[in-house]
Amino acid sequence: MNPIASAEARAYAPAYVKNTRLIEWVGQIAALTAAKAIHWCDGSDAEYNQLCQQLVDAGTFKKLNPARRPNSFLACSDPSDVARVEDRTFICSRNQDDAGPTNNWMAPAEMRALLQTGERALFKGCMQGRTLYVIPFSMGPLGSPISHLGVELSDSAYVAVNMKLMTRMGRPVVDLLGTDGRFVPCVHSVGAPLQPGQRDVPWPCNAEKKYIVHYPETQEIWSYGSGYGGNALLGKKCLALRIASTMGRDQGWLAEHMLILGVTTPARRKYHVAAAFPSACGKTNFAMLIPPAAMGGWTVTTIGDDIAWIKPGSDGRLYAINPEAGYFGVAPGTNFETNPNCMRSLEHDVIFTNVALTDDGDVWWEGMGPAPQHAIDWQGRDWTPAIAQETGAKAAHPNSRFTVAATNNPALDPAWDDASGVPIDAFIFGGRRSTTVPLVTEARNWMEGIYMGATLGSETTAAAVGQQGVVRRDPFAMLPFCGYNMGDYFQHWLDMESRLASQGATLPRIFCVNWFRKGADGQFVWPGYGENARVLKWMIERIEGKAAGENHLFGISPRYDDLDWGGLDFSRERYASITCADPASWQAELKLHDELFKLLAARLPASLKNARQAMEAGLAG
Ligand code: GTP
Ligand code: SPV
Ligand code: MN
Repeated sequence: MNPIASAEARAYAPAYVKNTRLIEWVGQIAALTAAKAIHWCDGSDAEYNQLCQQLVDAGTFKKLNPARRPNSFLACSDPSDVARVEDRTFICSRNQDDAGPTNNWMAPAEMRALLQTGERALFKGCMQGRTLYVIPFSMGPLGSPISHLGVELSDSAYVAVNMKLMTRMGRPVVDLLGTDGRFVPCVHSVGAPLQPGQRDVPWPCNAEKKYIVHYPETQEIWSYGSGYGGNALLGKKCLALRIASTMGRDQGWLAEHMLILGVTTPARRKYHVAAAFPSACGKTNFAMLIPPAAMGGWTVTTIGDDIAWIKPGSDGRLYAINPEAGYFGVAPGTNFETNPNCMRSLEHDVIFTNVALTDDGDVWWEGMGPAPQHAIDWQGRDWTPAIAQETGAKAAHPNSRFTVAATNNPALDPAWDDASGVPIDAFIFGGRRSTTVPLVTEARNWMEGIYMGATLGSETTAAAVGQQGVVRRDPFAMLPFCGYNMGDYFQHWLDMESRLASQGATLPRIFCVNWFRKGADGQFVWPGYGENARVLKWMIERIEGKAAGENHLFGISPRYDDLDWGGLDFSRERYASITCADPASWQAELKLHDELFKLLAARLPASLKNARQAMEAGLAG
């Protein structure tokens, strides 16, 4: 079949598409990429089912046993395409300084030549032999003034079905676009054109070349070579964080890598908390946690598990919405003890990626429960507990994930879809630190809290390609997701204080947590998961003026007797071992803060430098 000429695009668009710019752009991209067909996604269930069946026929999906996991599928990726690729992610602002030292940068014209216009531009002919899916989506509730619309053009049906679960996707978005509505154009290709007669593989991708590219000034996204997660589902990290963070900078709001939860006290008072933990550091789990029964009458409900858009309201408070409509969550470690709400969310209508297939047609991953006698691992090989013991082979990839609609979550907050958002009472920053950082610390003021966020450190995880378990600075858990200069971003957060205070509202409290301290045996000391509710309770009672704590160099932390220990056997000694702040390790920690501040020196707010000096003086004194 011949590639589609740009002028033919109108003929492929359904009659309900009225947006001329959209039709023309689809035509241009179809011509550039030499796609063999165009499929306009309407977002219907029938379309979802049909595309899933098509993915089954192509060998990308395996249908799971409907008696165990109704309407659910397993996809296994190419082993070279398993996580975000931070070293292949670019912010192409006009000035390099606006991308800042924490982002890869290339001049827009140079990148365009490489991707679109140059003689051997990567997108030229890259969809040969493939269908181009037009995926209209809304980040945020349909039709809300807070939302942003995007259209992703992708040559991956896997992307199309994932976008159906993760966003509000399809015809209603096209209707909202009307004749001249604005959208963020997102172009995605797996970078694997098919020659005539060439057989496709189950997971097409480009093992050699990957580019995840953002043009913040023109608000465009181009992604090449990967079909996985945040590399390919462009509404998520690319639009809702990297591009949205630049919108927020310009318009006075915040796009954050944060979960949003509601917490209701036994006295039926409801609070809302937003928490930034780096990738694979516990957001999904914290957003769905079930407080221990012995705590008596506390409940947690989920508004979002990964991204928050936060705007000042007319009352001077900060209101947060979750721009997503589903969860793309980490599978390993998830079980009925650690996260029962998540397990219930995964009972039907799920797409699993890179977990193991059991002999009865269900899924399994490390930390799900008793291991099966035999399974097919994520790379299609036989897996048994004996093989695992001998070779260390994992049944599921450590970054294996599930995709599921938020409406599957039994703990979904009634306001999760509310366009006005929920008022935020507290921010939490937390990293994965086996040493040094105590269980919980409250900032005594906004500045101290911003310092906590700015200097957040965490051990790297399998969510991004690269070495794992090395401590790095991940400011506000946004290192891979901030679409502009991190120094300017810190200033933007600092500026919120006077903006909000001038309206007389109480600012959210700020806390810093660490669930991940390890003992001499290399095991986590803190039980974590649902037990994190004890820390959450202390935070809420601090806000209510009920809970006590102890002042120290970095803020205020609970003493052993300040926490509720009902129903948990956790000794004073163990508590001391995860709350102690040893001066020598904090001297070393401050050196790591220095490294970050040196990197960001050109645009680092002076107040953060001063806070750093005060801390040093305190430690010495
Ligand atoms: P992204 O989706 O990558 O942004 O990650 P996330 O922050 O939502 O991480 P998630 O909640 O999926 O957790 C990642 C891993 O951390 C899983 O293996 C969890 O089992 C584990 N985890 C989550 N919470 C805790 C905790 O409180 N303690 C311990 N020890 N592990 C936890
Ligand atoms: C993360 O890495 O923070 C994720 C997963 O939430 S992905 O969407 O692949 O970026
Ligand atoms: Mn994330």
